[in-house]
Amino acid sequence: MDCRDSVVSCLSWILITGGVAYLLHQTRNHTKYGRYVSAEGRCCPAKLGWFLQEVPAFLVPLLLLLAEDPGTNRTGTGRTLLLCTFMLHYFHRSFIYAFLTRGRPVPLPIVLYAAIFCSLNGFLQGHHLLHCARFQHTWLTDARMAAGFLLFLLGMAVNIHSDHILRSLRKPGETVYRIPRGGMFEFVSGANFFGEMLEWFGYAVAVCSLPSFAFALFTVCSIGPRAYQHHRDYQQRFKDYPRSRKAVIPFIL
Ligand SMILES: NC(=O)c1ccc[n+]([C@@H]2O[C@H](COP(=O)([O-])OP(=O)(O)OC[C@H]3O[C@@H](n4cnc5c(N)ncnc54)[C@H](OP(=O)(O)O)[C@@H]3O)[C@@H](O)[C@H]2O)c1
Repeated sequence: MDCRDSVVSCLSWILITGGVAYLLHQTRNHTKYGRYVSAEGRCCPAKLGWFLQEVPAFLVPLLLLLAEDPGTNRTGTGRTLLLCTFMLHYFHRSFIYAFLTRGRPVPLPIVLYAAIFCSLNGFLQGHHLLHCARFQHTWLTDARMAAGFLLFLLGMAVNIHSDHILRSLRKPGETVYRIPRGGMFEFVSGANFFGEMLEWFGYAVAVCSLPSFAFALFTVCSIGPRAYQHHRDYQQRFKDYPRSRKAVIPFIL
C-alpha cells in the first residue's frame, strides 16, 4: 500500500483539534464514567466494555502488519519494533487489563466512541509507521529513539503498577473508593494517568512524527483533566487528603 499523506495529515489534525476541544469541554463537565455517572443509563459490563473499546487499536495495526508483502521488505525492523510497542500497550489493555478490572459498568456511548477512536488511531499509527515513516539505517544507535523507547517502557511500568494498586483497593464485587497508596501514588493523585502520558510521550519521541505527537497530545487532553477531577474528588471524599503524603498535586509533583 502507498503512503496516504493526506489521510495521515487529516487524521492527525483531527486528533489535535479534537483533543483540544475535549480538554476545553472537560474544564466545564466531568467525563461521564466511573464515579461520575449513575448506573441507570445503558451500560456495558466493565470487562466486556474495556475489551471491545480497546481491541481495535491492537487488531487494526496487526492486520496492516499481516497485509504487508514480506517480499518487498519495506517494513524494516525499526518501524516494526515501534509498531509492536504500540500494539503491546493495547494487547495488555484489551487482553489483560480488561479481564482484571473491578470497575463499574461503562456507559455504552463511551464504549462506542472509544472503539471508534481506537480503530482510527490504530490505523493512523499503523499506516504511518508501515507505509510513510522513513528511518535511517543507524536507528538502532539513535539516542533519541532509545530515550523515547525507555520512556515508553518506564511509563508502561508505572501505568500497569498503578492500575494494579487501584484494583487491589477493592474486593471482587465492591465499588467503594479508597485512598491509593504506594508506588507513584505517593507523589501523584492520578499515577496511572501519569504513567500513560509518559508512555505516549516516549512513543512520540521515539517515532518523532506528526501522528505520534498528535496522539500524545490527545492523551494529555483526554486524561489530564480526569486526573485533576479525581484529585478534587479525593479532597471532597477524604477530608484529610493527602495528609499522609510527602506531597501530592493533581497529576505530577
Ligand atoms: N490514552 C487515553 O486517552 C486513555 C483514556 C482513558 C483511559 N486510559 C487508561 O485506561 C486506564 C483506566 O482509565 P480510567 O479512566 O478508568 O482510570 P481510573 O478512573 O483511575 O479507574 C481505574 C480503575 O480503578 C478503579 N478506581 C479508581 N480509583 C479508585 C479508588 N480510589 N478506589 C477504588 N477503585 C478505584 C476504577 O473503578 P470505577 O470504574 O468503579 O471508578 C477503575 O476500575 C488508565 O490506565 C488510563 O491511563 C487511557
